[in-house]
Amino acid sequence: MISKLFINRTGPLHGRVTVHGAKNAVLPIMAACLLTEERSIVENVPRVSDVLLMADILRGLGVAVDLSGDVLTITPGQYAGTVAPYELVSRMRGSICVLGPLLAKQRTAQVSIPGGCVIGARPIDLHLKGLQRLGATIATEHGYVTATAPQGLRGAQIHLAGMFGSSVLGTGNVMMAATLAHGTTMIEHAACEPEVSDLANCLIAMGARIDGHGSPLIRIEGVPQLHGVRYRIIPDRIEAGTLMIATAMSHGDVWIDGVRIEHLAAVTDKLREANVRVEELDSSVQVSAGSFTQAADVVTLPFPGFPTDLQAQMMALMTISRGVSVLTEKVYPDRFMHVAELNRMGAAITREGSTAIIKGVGRLSGAPVAATDLRASAALILAGLAADNQTEVSGLDHLDRGYENLEGQLTQLGADIRRVREPDETEK
Ligand code: EPU
Repeated sequence: MISKLFINRTGPLHGRVTVHGAKNAVLPIMAACLLTEERSIVENVPRVSDVLLMADILRGLGVAVDLSGDVLTITPGQYAGTVAPYELVSRMRGSICVLGPLLAKQRTAQVSIPGGCVIGARPIDLHLKGLQRLGATIATEHGYVTATAPQGLRGAQIHLAGMFGSSVLGTGNVMMAATLAHGTTMIEHAACEPEVSDLANCLIAMGARIDGHGSPLIRIEGVPQLHGVRYRIIPDRIEAGTLMIATAMSHGDVWIDGVRIEHLAAVTDKLREANVRVEELDSSVQVSAGSFTQAADVVTLPFPGFPTDLQAQMMALMTISRGVSVLTEKVYPDRFMHVAELNRMGAAITREGSTAIIKGVGRLSGAPVAATDLRASAALILAGLAADNQTEVSGLDHLDRGYENLEGQLTQLGADIRRVREPDETEK
């Protein structure tokens, strides 16, 4: 079966909606559970296919995993597995984050090299460099990276900067491995993303000794072992941002609950510049937009900059905003597959290298469009809310990787969205 979303233009979104737990926090935290034999319980887990895939990777290593509601129970026991195979890793590049914990705990790990994807090359050189500095021997052959450290890892000073800045999962991988290393590790140019801090907080709750997380310099004092944990995942700032932009595009008025406002500062700032009102109250934001939104220039950057994972959605907003916006992608310079699809809907976007110039057109027109990656799929749905007639979005496997029931959340706010399952050509 293949699924499509049919979206009809609706009036302003209004009401309240609650954000799920962060996909990009839970994936490395699931991998962190490999660092102990004891059972861990992870709460506020989004039911998205990337989480289910990571659960399969852990099961393939011999770990018991159970997802019940939004609670994940992970019981490694004395698991013996050390291999994350191509069939699973190629479907989710984030699965590279099992490399560090496996290496630290099992002293050997074999993980398929993830390869590129539609959003760009996605190399893993920083992950490997960091683990090598911790004393691992790394070999890459037959499409796999094999890391070994028969005597265990040892702390080191590691500079983790790449061509495009820091690496989120690279920092996570090295930090996880260093928790069980002998001695002290300093990670310089560490990623400061809230998901890295969430991972660090979870590791600390497991008995790790870490400080400086959330800053570019993380210090890890190795300990002999970690223990099981009960841990609650932070709210998904990208889901929150997607709902904020959806509200702006529909000229709506929506309360978004269960957010961490401090994770959304760059997004809030840009939305205000675009003539959108954002009021912050404890763990909620109220977003409201009047009759028009205004062009804004955006540069995506590592946290606390504007997140690349909201670039496509922000571009959708700019297509219907007054004036000309310039959007520069500094994290994944090729993450522009959605441009052609938005232009199919009547947008006026031209691309020059890693910059897109978006001339506001006022109204989009509904069309059949195909999602090319997770965040592009969200952008097309948002565009559909603001387009005349019907928009038909295919490629929903991308959406389902990282959003738990986005269409349900939008429907709850008054959107007219329907998911239709049809047999594909091979099943007819
Ligand atoms: N990079 C290197 N070498 C490396 C690793 C990364 O050059 O060894 C480059 C990348 O090519 C990119 C930049 O560094 O240009 C940043 O990549 P990063 O490593 O930070 O990305 P990631 O950790 O693989 C996570 C998220 C992505 C998100 C990025 C950036 C997960 C599972 N994935 O990926 O999320 O875009 O950080 O914030 O946490 C998404 O959710 O849609 C998504 C793609």
